[in-house]
Amino acid sequence: MAPAYNFDVLIIGSGGAGLSHALHLPEGLKIAVLSKSRLQEGCTLYAQGGISAVTHPEDTFESHIEDTLNAGAGLNKPEAVRFAIEKGPEVIHWLIDEGVPFTRHTNKQGQQDFHLSREGGHSTRRVLHSADATGRAIEDTLVARARQRSNIALFEHHIAIDLITGTKLGLEENRCLGAYILDLEHQHVEVFAARNIVLATGGASKVYLYTSNPDTSSGDGIAMAWRAGCRVANMEFNQFHPTCLYHPKAKSFLVTEAVRGEGGRLLLPDGEPFMQRFDERGDLAPRDIVARAIDHEMKRLGLEHILLDISHKPAPFIREHFPTVYARCRELGIDMTLEPIPVVPAAHYTCGGVMTDLNGRTDLPGLYAIGEVACTGMHGANRMASNSLLECLVFATAASDDIAARIDALISPPELPEWDESRVRDSDEEVVVSHNWDELRRCMWNYVGIVRTNKRLQRAGRRVELLQQEIQEYYSNFRVSNDLLELRNLAQVAELIIRSAQQRKESRGLHYNLDYPETDTTRPPADTILTPPVPAAGTDRKAS
Ligand code: FAD
Ligand code: SIN
Repeated sequence: MAPAYNFDVLIIGSGGAGLSHALHLPEGLKIAVLSKSRLQEGCTLYAQGGISAVTHPEDTFESHIEDTLNAGAGLNKPEAVRFAIEKGPEVIHWLIDEGVPFTRHTNKQGQQDFHLSREGGHSTRRVLHSADATGRAIEDTLVARARQRSNIALFEHHIAIDLITGTKLGLEENRCLGAYILDLEHQHVEVFAARNIVLATGGASKVYLYTSNPDTSSGDGIAMAWRAGCRVANMEFNQFHPTCLYHPKAKSFLVTEAVRGEGGRLLLPDGEPFMQRFDERGDLAPRDIVARAIDHEMKRLGLEHILLDISHKPAPFIREHFPTVYARCRELGIDMTLEPIPVVPAAHYTCGGVMTDLNGRTDLPGLYAIGEVACTGMHGANRMASNSLLECLVFATAASDDIAARIDALISPPELPEWDESRVRDSDEEVVVSHNWDELRRCMWNYVGIVRTNKRLQRAGRRVELLQQEIQEYYSNFRVSNDLLELRNLAQVAELIIRSAQQRKESRGLHYNLDYPETDTTRPPADTILTPPVPAAGTDRKAS
């Protein structure tokens, strides 16, 4: 049966990566952009600090590259780092042309200029921002632009279940042909066919109990690509942001690193600054070092949180630079102009992901991955602050150019089989899904967090294996729902994280294992690459 939907490019994800990719594609192409929530929802919307790029005359590409490599602890791919950083000014100009209102100020020469902030790992000020709501400024601008394009069809509340591939259909040629999509409003699974499919689904930090991320970050793209036969790399490198607001009523609220860039200090409850004891860069050391130091102090002193203090700065300065953080803190009864903010580390960013080249191509012909879902090699073992939005924009653009150059040679996919629900029924106990969600995320937080050991990883591995069996059974018997799909993907990602962490017999960047506390300097640093089994024919059509 012919699919109801047929596109030149199907983009799964409407964050900074997905939308900038769509907007860069030629207007003659028929494009679909999917979002499993409302269009704006995703990490991009919540990005605070900004986007790094070399725009100041006294800054250099070499300096940005060096800082990125230092943060990445020897594991970055130098060609990916150089590619992204040298393209930085171009994507910034594109964003400005599209209408992103970056904050300006009057510089020392009395001219109007973009205000640049500084964050951990950067040796100079090079982060463009829109006060402390940069992501919202970018996302709103890109959404407005995409809505103006008649060739871009926007599908909100549509969640991709799985990719359709030649191998899974038993065809001779293996390429990505489309995807099964659950329309969440109508509870109906549709077949979307496309000549190219682009994963822009974001990261997987929801696999941890405490995270700065919105609910959308459930690793769907990584799990779908894995099931479609793509290699996944460096999944052990989960970044924990040092400063998320600690308050019983604040879920996932970040306090931007730019607060420390403007002089904020991390303090123990007695007012002692402690970061200098851990790193000579003090409060502005890279995130892995700061998060580990906080974890260490919290465990040593039995604390529930530490403090972040910028109250020594003038109140108007704080309100002007950090209006979002200020407002949220005030809602919760904290006045950051007068008192320190209670903060804790939380899962923030997935450095690993679907392996891609510099054009965003994955192992599977016809399938691209861009943004946080991808592992381009840019971040190595630890992403430097504000380098993620840069990576999203640069690789999204490169993938658009690559698709535009090759699309004429591609034929449309063959007719694709419909989703088969003839042998499943409505769930008899939805609560099982929420219990498994909770168990999985707690297990990852307790055993696969900032500090790991062989024993903890082993325990986590056993629990996740059992959960995966239960989830698979549930998936085979019951109709799919948003929560079930996300849980299945999170469990897959958890398995990949644990396996990757077990393979790395050293501590490096974000991965710290007490059983191997040193970085292995006896051999060249190597990626942790996991290769999936070849997908069996017929596995796409559940219960068929
Ligand atoms: P996202 O913006 O997360 O978008 C993912 C999209 O995929 C969403 O539209 C979602 O609905 C969709 N999706 C996911 N799965 C499916 C599915 N199965 N079917 C259909 N749609 C799906 N980085 C910086 O560089 N600078 C910062 O200042 C900064 N601040 C941050 C602050 C916070 C609080 C957070 C959480 C992150 C921050 N980051 C920052 C990281 C950065 O925001 C993200 O890495 C980046 O925005 C990811 O963009 P993306 O387009 O890849 O994914
Ligand atoms: C922040 O504003 O602290 C987040 C920046 C980032 O994750 O890059």
